[in-house]
Amino acid sequence: MTGSVRDPLLQVRDLTHHYGRHLGCRDVSFDLHPGEILGIVGESGSGKTTLLKCVSGQLQPTDGSVSYRTRDLGPVDVYGMSEARRRLLMRTDWGIVYQNARDGLRMKVSAGANVGERLMAIGDRHYGHIRSEAVDWLERVEMDMGRIDDMPGTFSGGMQQRLQIARNLVTKPRLVFMDEPTSGLDVSVQARLLDLIRGLVGSLGIACIVVTHDLGVVRLLSHRLMVMKGGQVVEHGLTDQVLDDPQHPYTQLLVSSILPV
Ligand SMILES: Nc1ncnc2c1ncn2[C@@H]1O[C@H](COP(=O)(O)OP(=O)(O)OP(=O)(O)O)[C@@H](O)[C@H]1O
Ligand SMILES: [Mg+2]
Repeated sequence: MTGSVRDPLLQVRDLTHHYGRHLGCRDVSFDLHPGEILGIVGESGSGKTTLLKCVSGQLQPTDGSVSYRTRDLGPVDVYGMSEARRRLLMRTDWGIVYQNARDGLRMKVSAGANVGERLMAIGDRHYGHIRSEAVDWLERVEMDMGRIDDMPGTFSGGMQQRLQIARNLVTKPRLVFMDEPTSGLDVSVQARLLDLIRGLVGSLGIACIVVTHDLGVVRLLSHRLMVMKGGQVVEHGLTDQVLDDPQHPYTQLLVSSILPV
């Protein structure tokens, strides 16, 4: 492996994105280390999804850079490489879990195929191995094995999210991006899903960036926390420190209105 485990996996520098005249996010910089979980919170429209899309190779930023440390080649400029190479990197090294499972699943193929096809996409051609890995991952996310051949559209919201997680983790990514992975689910389903994410991501040592409105989610999942407002980062630090002793007036407001102190 190129680089030491102490080297950042991801280096984001001065990232800015404009949608025409509209600001998406501005001047965002951070490092993410292997196995680290970074939470991003902020009000609606603060730029969280824009930032996540830019960082995860889905949206070319207007300005700034994203550098990712690959297994073999060391740091590479995510937007300096060809589109084909970036797509390959996204398949082999990264996972993306969307808020709306329909954006992250293929609704016209079975649950088993949703997981298995990700292995095929990275070159696995052994049917027996693909099937057994798919079964193993569906079990890990506590899917009912009787439904392995069912289409995702017949599943509940919580089951669809668990399927998305299996589909994303089966390739053993080093980095997973999640945009509001638990919103829209009822509280007990959310809690189970969060436990599952925490257990899997933690045991596999996967680095993760999680966008959420929910301070409870970041408190449970993330090591570090970034607070966004108006497209910019207003506070960034260890999650407990930021939540227990917020420095920026906006973070103080956010914390006091949601977490009784
Ligand atoms: N496709 C787009 N075209 C134009 N403006 C956009 C587009 N997508 C986002 N924006 C604008 O960029 C800003 C940041 O939006 P973004 O979706 O990143 O916010 P967010 O923090 O993810 O919000 P939410 O919590 O509601 O998902 C907003 O002002 C939004 O209106
Ligand atoms: Mg968003």
